[in-house]
Amino acid sequence: MPNPSLLILPGDGIGPEVMAEVRKIIDWFEAKRGIAFDVSEDLVGGCAYDKHGTPLHDDTMARAQEVDAVLLGAVGGPKYDNLDFSVKPERGLLRLRKEMDLFSNLRPAQCFDALADFSSLKKDVVAGLDIMIVRELTSGVYFGEPRGIFEEGNERVGINTQRYTESEIDRVARSAFDLAMKRGKKLCSMEKANVMESGILWREVVTEVGKDYPEVELSHMYADAGAMQLTRWPKQFDVIVTDNLFGDLLSDLAAMLTGSLGMLPSASLGAPMNNGRPKALYEPVHGSAPDIAGQGKANPCACILSFAMALRYSFDMGDEADRLEKAVNDVLASGVRTADLLNEDGITPASTTEMGDAVIKALDASL
Ligand code: IPM
Ligand code: MG
Repeated sequence: MPNPSLLILPGDGIGPEVMAEVRKIIDWFEAKRGIAFDVSEDLVGGCAYDKHGTPLHDDTMARAQEVDAVLLGAVGGPKYDNLDFSVKPERGLLRLRKEMDLFSNLRPAQCFDALADFSSLKKDVVAGLDIMIVRELTSGVYFGEPRGIFEEGNERVGINTQRYTESEIDRVARSAFDLAMKRGKKLCSMEKANVMESGILWREVVTEVGKDYPEVELSHMYADAGAMQLTRWPKQFDVIVTDNLFGDLLSDLAAMLTGSLGMLPSASLGAPMNNGRPKALYEPVHGSAPDIAGQGKANPCACILSFAMALRYSFDMGDEADRLEKAVNDVLASGVRTADLLNEDGITPASTTEMGDAVIKALDASL
């Protein structure tokens, strides 16, 4: 059996810095656990545009379709703000999601004990928080047609279309119910059925799918009320399923409940390939953070935890994923903090590499 294959796309901004720490973790698993990966690396986003004039070269796209999992850092930066829309760095990421058909985006919002004080909400509201947002990722207003900026009379009109087919809703709903079965057996579906037909259909299809999961307690909420409830008492939720745009907003909100975007990983999963593994891309929820790029300040934990999700969801190595997640937890508990996890003056933050090294040490200690 060949080694499982990974395509690493560090991307722009802090992407390369945080991914360098993940490379160390991958090497650790090979050296200390005998788990070897066949790793290749390529460009995505602005750096790909700089080299090829496109944010995702066709060869990179083809490679992404072949590998067992893609690990992505981040894309974008102010340097690319004025590029034509079709070649913006984000288009590279969106093309990967669309062409790999990664319809189910898992975004955990978990509050690490050591960081409970760091949330902008009261400690008892967030301590122990562990929720999972399942965001539909390949349809909805991100991709619906018609779209564009058109002339209408003597002015222009900007158009995007929210569009969902029953089968698109069905498959993402099933992935969310499957997850709920493995967790707390509670699923809340969020849409705006009060104002959108696509929301009415969403609610109907999710309800129908729910009949196949009688053990899961299903509820529905309008997405605006959902945002409110997420800040009021987030621990009422276990798994949330929602569409592409609401999921984009709600997952940033949920992420910040936990204190820092720098801690949160994500998995984007598609249908199973011939080897039974799902098509998969793993990336930190944080973006390219151009303001701190290249300074060694970025927190590599979200990217490291994204690799833990790869171990769990692509390679069926839940125990090794637990080991890595525990190592990150132990490092935080020992007081090591990157700058994003500090709000007091007078403490010197750990650099990106120091944080990565601390995780390696904690992994060593786990043996
Ligand atoms: C995210 C990001 C992306 C999105 C951007 C970078 C295209 O905000 O992954 O949440 O809007 O989906
Ligand atoms: Mg977003």
